[in-house]
Amino acid sequence: MSSVTVRVPAKVNVQLSVGPLREDGFHDLVNVFHAVSIFDEVVASRDEGAARSVTVSVSGGWAAEVPLHDGNLAVRAARALAARTGCDQGVHLAIHKTIPVAGGMAGGSADAAAALVACNELWGLGLAREELMDIGAELGSDVPFSLMGGTALGTGRGELLEPLPVGGPFHWVFAVADTGLSTPEVYKECDRLRGDGPVAEPRADEGLLAALRDGDAARLGRLLANDLQEAALSLHPPLAGTLRAGLDAGALGAIVSGSGPTCAFLAGDATHAAELADALATTPGTRAALSTEGPAPGATLI
Ligand code: C5P
Repeated sequence: MSSVTVRVPAKVNVQLSVGPLREDGFHDLVNVFHAVSIFDEVVASRDEGAARSVTVSVSGGWAAEVPLHDGNLAVRAARALAARTGCDQGVHLAIHKTIPVAGGMAGGSADAAAALVACNELWGLGLAREELMDIGAELGSDVPFSLMGGTALGTGRGELLEPLPVGGPFHWVFAVADTGLSTPEVYKECDRLRGDGPVAEPRADEGLLAALRDGDAARLGRLLANDLQEAALSLHPPLAGTLRAGLDAGALGAIVSGSGPTCAFLAGDATHAAELADALATTPGTRAALSTEGPAPGATLI
């Protein structure tokens, strides 16, 4: 086998509840992840050059914003897999990006998850999905979910996952902002806005889990919740206008996706989603409006 292709989805958090700051700099979360059908593709090819050489190239709409050095999360994933297994083979990773960069849709985590699955196959390592998730958790809090896909309840940093039953599909529109936000900065702003008062331990919203289970988009739309939204709006105030534009155009719910700045809108069906996307495409500060559906499978060999 000389090359392997893996497809991996973006995510939105339908509930993101942020607990107190932990001593390790992370926050305990209740994180209801939902994978959506916006996919990156990673092609891993044999590199017969130097042993352990990991190189990367990026194509697609958001390619210019992706680092090509060791800061690339897919490169770090390939290196982490090689280190864990003692594998000394090389690889070239060709990433085709469709998931927005620095958008709160786990684009970097998705590429890391895809690189783990692709290199595991290309190098013939035979690691189980759980072992890849374990390596992925060290790379980023969202990487294990990018491997799992579907809809899942994440606790801890977000890396402890329990799959959730979903009666969907759910139809979504994502308004991609013309700027990015740094995840650590958004968490820091969340802490700053909260001040010194006590912060409650996060809990899963049983009503929201029931709406997911029942495939009830109208109820889910009303219950979407993201504790990072206020911080994202504080750092990038124009997002309030984007959220309002989607609701004015008839969205069943509107939320900042993860740490933002992408905004997610829930629609009643595919036609409604296409109409919403048309309306949002011309909203100031919006670079693109993408209509799609979830849940979608996690990182998959194709
Ligand atoms: O794990 P990940 O690389 O996605 O985290 C990026 C940053 O987001 C962390 O360095 C931390 O500042 C913040 N974070 C957090 N609590 C989490 C997940 C992320 O504070 N549960």
